[in-house]
Amino acid sequence: MYTVETHNLVKKFGDVVAVNGVDIKVKPSEIFGLLGPNGAGRTTTIHILSCMLKPTSGEAYVNGYDVMKHPDQVRKSIGIVFQDPALDDRLTGRENMEIHGMLYNVPRKVLKPRIDAALELVELKDRSNYLVRTYSGGMRRRLEIARSLIHTPKILFLDEPTIGLDPQTRERIWEYIEEMAKEEEITIILTTHYMEEADKLCDRVAIIDFGEIKAEGTPEELKKQLGGDVITVKTKKVKELNNAVSGFEFVKSVKGTSDGLKITLMNGEEHITDVACTARDNGISVESLVLHEPTLNDVFLHYTGREIREEEASGSMLAMRMRASMGRRR
Ligand SMILES: Nc1ncnc2c1ncn2[C@@H]1O[C@H](COP(=O)(O)OP(=O)(O)OP(=O)(O)O)[C@@H](O)[C@H]1O
Ligand SMILES: [Mg+2]
Repeated sequence: MYTVETHNLVKKFGDVVAVNGVDIKVKPSEIFGLLGPNGAGRTTTIHILSCMLKPTSGEAYVNGYDVMKHPDQVRKSIGIVFQDPALDDRLTGRENMEIHGMLYNVPRKVLKPRIDAALELVELKDRSNYLVRTYSGGMRRRLEIARSLIHTPKILFLDEPTIGLDPQTRERIWEYIEEMAKEEEITIILTTHYMEEADKLCDRVAIIDFGEIKAEGTPEELKKQLGGDVITVKTKKVKELNNAVSGFEFVKSVKGTSDGLKITLMNGEEHITDVACTARDNGISVESLVLHEPTLNDVFLHYTGREIREEEASGSMLAMRMRASMGRRR
């Protein structure tokens, strides 16, 4: 049985098709990633699965319950960490968790030990009696994750769990997420546009763009699908180099990037010199030429013709911060 399953899920907002026929199947205790750029439809998908939005058409089942027919059962089965911060910063960390426990009717007797255990998991027990206003961004995110566990959900949705956090905090959060999936047997569906996060953390990844799943599999499978090595070339003469190398029988595909191109090819080590010599012979100046194994970034580029760029990450980070500070001004 799958813990989360969708069939041809569609969500339209007027003319905008946010989710366009999404099919996913997630197994128990799996960490499943929705990887895509801004506006890909990831938050919308999560909102449908958590009964906050009704789909325009299609079906979705969470913990075996139809989101349209049994929303209360679905809500009882899930925890969610929203993309936008959703803590009350005038309360302490512990108070935020207590309110959540009461909202979910967690019996008083078990509430305190559960809060303690969750705070321990994310290493916030010492700071639990401080106002959230005094927490750093990473501490707030950890508290939100801890809070989402209080009613012992079977399935956890994490919408951009580590956005805007420093690499060290991000890695700690990955550890908590892995621990929850393995030890508590929670199924985790997370969204991310960090390639590294999808690669290191997720058992399976769905690459989503313009509301459609373009590819799906384990990070290893996805990278293998490219079937070769990749040479990343930095050059201003994109068209010229593309024309020069496209004819080689060892070249599988060539895709333009923001500052050059990526060549997927067989036996990269053998042929990197051919590429370099071809550039030289055609008078094409090249800033750098790097041979590497395919990354999820290359996979994304292959299926969508675009890269997920870091600016997009900082764009949503900025929007998130603006919303957070507007919230505080109220
Ligand atoms: N309530 C809404 N009304 C109108 N359009 C919406 C609404 N919510 C989302 N959209 C549109 O649906 C599309 C998908 O948005 P969604 O928030 O699901 O993307 P996402 O993948 O979560 O991206 P990100 O969070 O990085 O911005 C976008 O084009 C967005 O503008
Ligand atoms: Mg989103």
